[in-house]
Amino acid sequence: MKRSLTALLAAGILLAGCANSESEDDKPKVIRVEEGPPQTVSSSTTAATVPPAETVPTETTSETTVTTTTPEETTTTTTTTSETTTTTTLPPETTTTTTTTTTTTTTTTTTAKRELTAPEAASFSVETGENSTTVSWDKAEGADGYVVMLRRSADSCWEDVADTTELKAVLEGIGRNKAYSFSVKSYMIKDGEKVYSDKNEVSAFPYLTQKNGITYVDGMMIVNKTYGLPKTYNPGLSAETQAAFNEMKKGAKADGLDIWICSGFRNYNYQYSLYWGYVNRDGSQASADKYSARPGYSEHQSGLAVDVNQASRYFNGSPVAVWLEKNCWKYGFIIRYPKGKEGITGYNYESWHCRYVGKDKAKMFHENGLTVEEYYGLTSEYTS
Ligand code: DAL
Ligand code: ZN
Repeated sequence: MKRSLTALLAAGILLAGCANSESEDDKPKVIRVEEGPPQTVSSSTTAATVPPAETVPTETTSETTVTTTTPEETTTTTTTTSETTTTTTLPPETTTTTTTTTTTTTTTTTTAKRELTAPEAASFSVETGENSTTVSWDKAEGADGYVVMLRRSADSCWEDVADTTELKAVLEGIGRNKAYSFSVKSYMIKDGEKVYSDKNEVSAFPYLTQKNGITYVDGMMIVNKTYGLPKTYNPGLSAETQAAFNEMKKGAKADGLDIWICSGFRNYNYQYSLYWGYVNRDGSQASADKYSARPGYSEHQSGLAVDVNQASRYFNGSPVAVWLEKNCWKYGFIIRYPKGKEGITGYNYESWHCRYVGKDKAKMFHENGLTVEEYYGLTSEYTS
């Protein structure tokens, strides 16, 4: 369901924007199952002295010692034994006695057993499919079992969704349509009670984290009408975004087009004056909210967004807008507010607003044609 701006334009679909508008305006992984700690296994064979060919042994000694070594603790025992073997030579009337000496070196390994008060935490990964999720983890030292926990949204409680001795759990009905949080806790049974690992880890995808008032999903900063930024967040335009834009500028130039940033980083106060200026001009917040972010909710404050050339609806359909639509992903950008997705992103179509997400994600969004909100199952709505 790849978007085609050209096709949409050909169909005459143009959305109302703000006249003169805005000068301102984040496959499945492989399930890993490990059998146990890495081991070096070697074997050695010591054989008793072989009797002379002309004798028929009635008893020989042959031993195979399997040595298992781990870095933990190694004990080597050397045992020398002497045995007397009676052999009967042919012809049967002659009997001789030989002495066989066998030296056996046995190396045994004792894995130092620490007295754990709680099991180690399980390091895990998440494979999210369309309608099911597989959580898999490494064996944790001291663990008798594992509990998988799920949080359905940032403000809901953690639920236990699996309790297993296996190293994976498949969660049906939990798919890539929503940003869930996952956790795996290992536990040991002590005196009939479960003692949990003191630390639990959370998956990278599609986990939603909030750190210092900033929301991230899949390692990507999220800024929309639901997820704002602290007033004090003031990073300037990110160096990576600027560098990516410079590359994009070269690419456009090679295609005969000139591009520039007409609005890059905007701090909270600047966004405040812009937004309230539009509200005053239009006479209502409802009107301004369609094209301008409220202060604290603009991607421009993230330092990861740039408006290219002209932030106005008259830019839509221009050669540069068409070029951006087709090429910006190659440089790590996405058209953040696409045509036809207004009800999802919360904003009118903005052919000029490019959000830097890095090349891998930009390619992914370009190929699947989804918005950030659609792909991660996020809302973009003000709560007041
Ligand atoms: N024009 C976009 C939505 C902003 O104000 O950040
Ligand atoms: Zn913008």
